[in-house]
Amino acid sequence: MEKIGIIGAGAMGSSIAEVFAYNGYDVYLKDQNMDLVNRGISNIKRILTDFQSYVNTLPDKEIKRIEKLGIKLSDEQVNAVNKNLGGDIKIEEIISHIKPVDDYNKLNDADLVIEAVFEKQEIKNDLFKELSKHLNENTILASNTSSLSITEMASYYKKPENALITHFFNPPYTLPLVEIVPAIQSSGSTVDKAYNIISKMKNHRDHMVPVKAKERAGFIVNRILIQIINEAIKISEENIADEKSIDIAMKKGAGFPMGPFELGDYVGLDIVYDVLKTFNKVYGDKFLIPERLKNMVIAGYLGRKTGRGFYEYKK
Ligand SMILES: NC(=O)c1ccc[n+]([C@@H]2O[C@H](COP(=O)([O-])OP(=O)(O)OC[C@H]3O[C@@H](n4cnc5c(N)ncnc54)[C@H](O)[C@@H]3O)[C@@H](O)[C@H]2O)c1
Repeated sequence: MEKIGIIGAGAMGSSIAEVFAYNGYDVYLKDQNMDLVNRGISNIKRILTDFQSYVNTLPDKEIKRIEKLGIKLSDEQVNAVNKNLGGDIKIEEIISHIKPVDDYNKLNDADLVIEAVFEKQEIKNDLFKELSKHLNENTILASNTSSLSITEMASYYKKPENALITHFFNPPYTLPLVEIVPAIQSSGSTVDKAYNIISKMKNHRDHMVPVKAKERAGFIVNRILIQIINEAIKISEENIADEKSIDIAMKKGAGFPMGPFELGDYVGLDIVYDVLKTFNKVYGDKFLIPERLKNMVIAGYLGRKTGRGFYEYKK
């Protein structure tokens, strides 16, 4: 397994591409046009530059931590810490594994293709149909969907037994979980192959961790997290507490690394809204869409990516 195709070079597609390239795979990246592919590649460069800056801070942090314990390190020991924790991220080499493509035929010999296009069932169905003309008989075709039907997408693909969901989390270079969700048509070997690929990979912090789940909207993590964001919006609408206080409360009282409003802004409120609409269809009144969220999406207050969501961000 060497060649990966990624379709959709947005927030998720570009960072999934980065993780595969970081693991030495050749990654063929496709979007609606080359400008969007190039925007994705710029994002990958930024991810890698940020990673290098992060790695650069590690030795100093570790030395300070040890010195705080009252231990004075020798020059030799300081060098050893620098050598083990620091280091150069081979940015150019990793980027060289990303191959921009403008034609689906270039994905013909891909072993695994992952789509991360807009979260719309019809768009994904059409894509699975289109890819039936271009991919080979053995290619595994995976969707990164958060809430849509893979069984429906698979029914548009020429080899439905090769289709499944590999649901990466945002951002995949720091969050190692991938939910592996078979369609009703997926073969056991497709699931095993996807599981094995992911379990051998690393991201910037950890080994990647695949977890199998059945096809039901939201799988494991989002079904829980989206409800938390929704409930947080309701709490602020009821004037029980403001957003900042709710975020502080969940971080300091429940050990969350991010508050629900910070998380919503991070994920993108259009995504939260789309997922909620699907959950509302599937689970009914347990997932009612707050009017405020709908209005924020209409206004284009989508969170970090537009500079304004529940909070404001410098561009
Ligand atoms: N953002 C998240 O936190 C997150 C987390 C997990 C999963 N997902 C899922 O990942 C997928 C992508 O989400 P995103 O946040 O990266 O979206 P995004 O809007 O940032 O990127 C989507 C990209 O897909 C491209 N695209 C759309 N239709 C296309 C087509 N027919 N062919 C080729 N490219 C096409 C767009 O031009 C865009 O660049 C969605 O299914 C989403 O539900 C998102």
